[in-house]
Amino acid sequence: MFYPSTRLRRLRLNQNIRDLVSETSVSISNLVYPLFIREGNNKTEEIDSMPGIYRYSIDNLLKEIGEIYKLGINSVLLFGIPDKKDEMATGAYSKNGIIQRALKEIKNNFKELIVITDLCLCEYTNHGHCGVIRNGYVDNDETLELIGLTALSHAESGADIIAPSDMMDGRVAKIREVLEDNDFGNTLIMSYSAKYASAFYGPFRDAAQSSPHFGDRKSYQMNPSNIREALREIEQDIEEGADIVMVKPAMSYLDVINAAREEFNHPLAAYNVSGEYSMVKAASKMGWVDENEIILEILTSIKRAGADIIITYFAKQIAPILK
Ligand code: PBG
Repeated sequence: MFYPSTRLRRLRLNQNIRDLVSETSVSISNLVYPLFIREGNNKTEEIDSMPGIYRYSIDNLLKEIGEIYKLGINSVLLFGIPDKKDEMATGAYSKNGIIQRALKEIKNNFKELIVITDLCLCEYTNHGHCGVIRNGYVDNDETLELIGLTALSHAESGADIIAPSDMMDGRVAKIREVLEDNDFGNTLIMSYSAKYASAFYGPFRDAAQSSPHFGDRKSYQMNPSNIREALREIEQDIEEGADIVMVKPAMSYLDVINAAREEFNHPLAAYNVSGEYSMVKAASKMGWVDENEIILEILTSIKRAGADIIITYFAKQIAPILK
């Protein structure tokens, strides 16, 4: 007779045993749902490259938030799409900008909801870059001034967490200084610390109409081949005062998430980005994968790698299943 010293399959005998020994779980309270906001009234416009994801005018946005709040989603990440763009991204820090108005309305209606604002200029510049252009180059320090103005206007309008996604050097320090100087000591910063120059953002740029009109973002976003540099970026953001750090994208960067988890003790977020979403949607539409199973597997893998928080377009769809 053959007696294996350990029968590992005993631990997989039935669902209750499997649940009992489960090492990783995804919970709704760790998910953040991104939302795109446009001008106008009564507008809900599906994004071609992201089936199931929409651009909302502020009135319809409030209805959508009502729905997701009922599903148990407590955090949202806002992206604004202004009608007018210009060289200095004035729409990003105007008191009456799309995000500033949306924030006030959301906070009037949903006090407890955690509202995170993406802070970047690319949706507001007419050239689509994440900063001020000088001689064909995104000028770091001049951009920081606009980032400071934008952060303050988000905080004044009620943002709970500010999430800079521009990848300029020194932005976290700049934002922290502006917040402290203006009595916003309790506003959190969730920094897109290790943000890679990734082709997985393709559908997002379609959604936010934020593709660069010339060149690419490789002089500010990171080279996908580097991991030690990601740890330096994260370390720097922590020193500058970030409360939460992030790795983005998630699926092709699970090693970076894991290394960040090993090295640092800050809460760690991972951004399951637009391309990761749309690939699943496309394959599922073709009937090639089981959509909900694959979403759960993806989210579980991101947690297993070490993320505490997952920003994901799947949040609304998967919330009833997690419940
Ligand atoms: C803004 C920003 C981008 C994303 C989040 N914030 C696009 C980019 O850097 O080009 C991508 C999100 C996604 O793909 O889901 N800079």
